[in-house]
Amino acid sequence: MKTLIFITILIVTVSSEIKRYSFPDDFLFGAATASYQIEGAWNVDGKIPSIWDTASHRNPSSVVDGTTGDDAGMSYYYYEKDIQALKDIGFKVYRFSIAWTRMLTKTNQVNQKGIDYYNKLIDRLKEEGIEPMVTIYHWDLPQYLQDLGGWTNPRIVKYFEIFADLAFKSFGDRVKEWITFNEPSVFCDEGYGWASHAPEIRTDKNIGNYLCTHHVLLAHASAYRMYKEKYFPSQQGKVGICLNSGFNYPYNSTVTQETVDKAVNFYLGRFANAIFTEEGDYPKIMRDAINEKSKNEGRRWSRLPHFTTAQIESLKGSADFLAINYYSSNFVVPFDLLPGWDPAGSDNEIWGFHDPTIWKRAKSVWLYQVPDGLRDLLIWIKDHYNNPLVYITENGWSDEPMTIDDYDRIEYLNLHLKALSQAIDASCNVKAYTVWSLIDNFEWMRGYTERFGIYAINFTDPERQRIPKKSVALFKDLMQNMYVEI
Ligand code: NOJ
Repeated sequence: MKTLIFITILIVTVSSEIKRYSFPDDFLFGAATASYQIEGAWNVDGKIPSIWDTASHRNPSSVVDGTTGDDAGMSYYYYEKDIQALKDIGFKVYRFSIAWTRMLTKTNQVNQKGIDYYNKLIDRLKEEGIEPMVTIYHWDLPQYLQDLGGWTNPRIVKYFEIFADLAFKSFGDRVKEWITFNEPSVFCDEGYGWASHAPEIRTDKNIGNYLCTHHVLLAHASAYRMYKEKYFPSQQGKVGICLNSGFNYPYNSTVTQETVDKAVNFYLGRFANAIFTEEGDYPKIMRDAINEKSKNEGRRWSRLPHFTTAQIESLKGSADFLAINYYSSNFVVPFDLLPGWDPAGSDNEIWGFHDPTIWKRAKSVWLYQVPDGLRDLLIWIKDHYNNPLVYITENGWSDEPMTIDDYDRIEYLNLHLKALSQAIDASCNVKAYTVWSLIDNFEWMRGYTERFGIYAINFTDPERQRIPKKSVALFKDLMQNMYVEI
């Protein structure tokens, strides 16, 4: 009897704290992947090498477990399994990327077999009532373009335009959601600044990263304008860009809101300010700081390139939506408050860090669970960029291979869905969410050591069975009810 009373009290206490966080009926839920991370078939049917083929084949390679994306989840062969996995959950949208190296040859001739593959994928998705959301560039640059300087060469803008044009022309009758670039700050900083991602080029003082940034912005704007001129209104699609950002919390009461805004402006604003504000340029605070530093370094030019008036006009308003990848957040402290701190290398002079005593960490060293940051970032975007249409195109948790009972992921996802619903209640204009990732995949320099999928893959299984983890049930429930309870 005593036990019964105790259990009843416990249930009442626990359940009284559980709340329901709902989503509008037309909110789109789905999952995301990227070509190099899942497709495999790296040299099949006319595909040419990308910078990730080169980086992962290099001996010794920087991929921690020495693996490659040569085969990965073999989605090039098993895309039907991916569609089945989406269908089993009831997802309404699938975000995937197209490989430049499959669709165009070295001499910019169309590789029909590459186009055929994406046509099959898109057609099957449409048959199942799943909306394709296509990322045009998710990091797998053709190696021959890197040999010309890659994203640091201004000619890349023209090359990207040709590729984007082919994508719009080939798939635009069915694809209505286009993302030009995925996380440019990551591939610019890591690829051309710190050499921690392909093409592994190190440049001092952020020079390569800023050149890359500049050309990506110009390539984005020119693809957007081309779509609007050539394919709109006939195709009736939307074109946006995908930026990653966390939120920045003041570490203590001496850190001001100004520092918080500065940190967001230097990171998210480096790409978003030119597109989502009337300025059509880098944030003034960023330009001024880098111009000044460059002068002090004795340079004749600023390390941050300038836009022409025509380029500014083209950049302004060049997106129909902002796609956000949110994983984690930081604390921030300005260097002024850190006596003896050496500001070299950091143009914003702000130290951003995670606090492991407060935040739980995933398998990935950079990934801490800070769900409120998603809500706070979305509110910052609403307030600073005039409440644009936003899609959350990545959010997810990494764990050990074959963690089928992925309770940590479930906790992370539930808390983030709650934060997302709070942002919607605070009038943020968010309309879609795609979890990273549909299936376990090649996690760049971490190889297969960290897994993000809601479906597990055993990479020694020739059939690459997609095995549902426990988090699949969370999404099944969500699709049926359009709420989470926490
Ligand atoms: C963002 C990238 O877009 C994706 O490719 C990567 O796997 C995830 N973050 C996890 O690191």
